[in-house]
Amino acid sequence: MAQRGVLLSFEGGEGSGKTTHARRLSEHLKELGFAVKLTREPGGTPLGERIREVLLGLDDELGPLEEFLLFSTARAQVVRTVIRPALKAASVVVVDRYYHSSYAYQGGGGGLSLEYMRSVTAGIVGDCVPDLVLLLDVAPETGLSRCAGAGGKDGTASDRFERKDVEFHRKVRAAFLECARAEPKRFVVIDASQSEDEVFAQVRDAALVVLRARGLQPTAK
Ligand SMILES: Nc1ncnc2c1ncn2[C@@H]1O[C@H](COP(=O)(O)OP(=O)(O)OP(=O)(O)O)[C@@H](O)[C@H]1O
Ligand SMILES: [Mg+2]
Repeated sequence: MAQRGVLLSFEGGEGSGKTTHARRLSEHLKELGFAVKLTREPGGTPLGERIREVLLGLDDELGPLEEFLLFSTARAQVVRTVIRPALKAASVVVVDRYYHSSYAYQGGGGGLSLEYMRSVTAGIVGDCVPDLVLLLDVAPETGLSRCAGAGGKDGTASDRFERKDVEFHRKVRAAFLECARAEPKRFVVIDASQSEDEVFAQVRDAALVVLRARGLQPTAK
């Protein structure tokens, strides 16, 4: 059978450093000679980016079920058009948030049934399950203050999830940690209150262990 690629997802609350480290890891792996595809969720496709705008921009009465279904639509498209083809081409796929964010936000934060989400998600992702989930764990107060800090995350204004109260974000954090407890082999939990370089060293080491275990080699430069 042809070599399949490796799927790495970054998860964690607001301002935990997902985007920073997804980009840094992608660059690092490219320098090592791996074929890398970096994508994000929601987003990664034109429709996904429009759904992202709706989901993150609206301040109306979107409930957790509507959120989950919109995220799921974006997820289905990025899996079909970006993630699955890149894995088939033996690339390292790095995704900035994936379905565990739904379990944490719409499940832990919003109270939507985990069993229901798991069943829909299984149909959407199929075998595109992450080989490694890098969970960047930080207290919500710390993460949210980073987002609010100079320039904020990506230099953008706060989104509707960032504007939810600290209690919501505590539930999200607890739900992420519960996902990690349920699948200890798939997850690495990294203390994201450390400096950016300390976090990155752990991100890089965990990713390289998985790439080696899967036998994925750098492609010739
Ligand atoms: N370990 C760190 N220590 C201090 N600041 C950090 C650290 N990691 C990232 N930051 C800073 O925190 C801010 C948010 O980081 P980033 O955008 O990567 O988080 P995120 O997890 O992608 O956030 P979001 O969930 O809102 O997308 C950025 O300004 C970034 O430079
Ligand atoms: Mg981000």
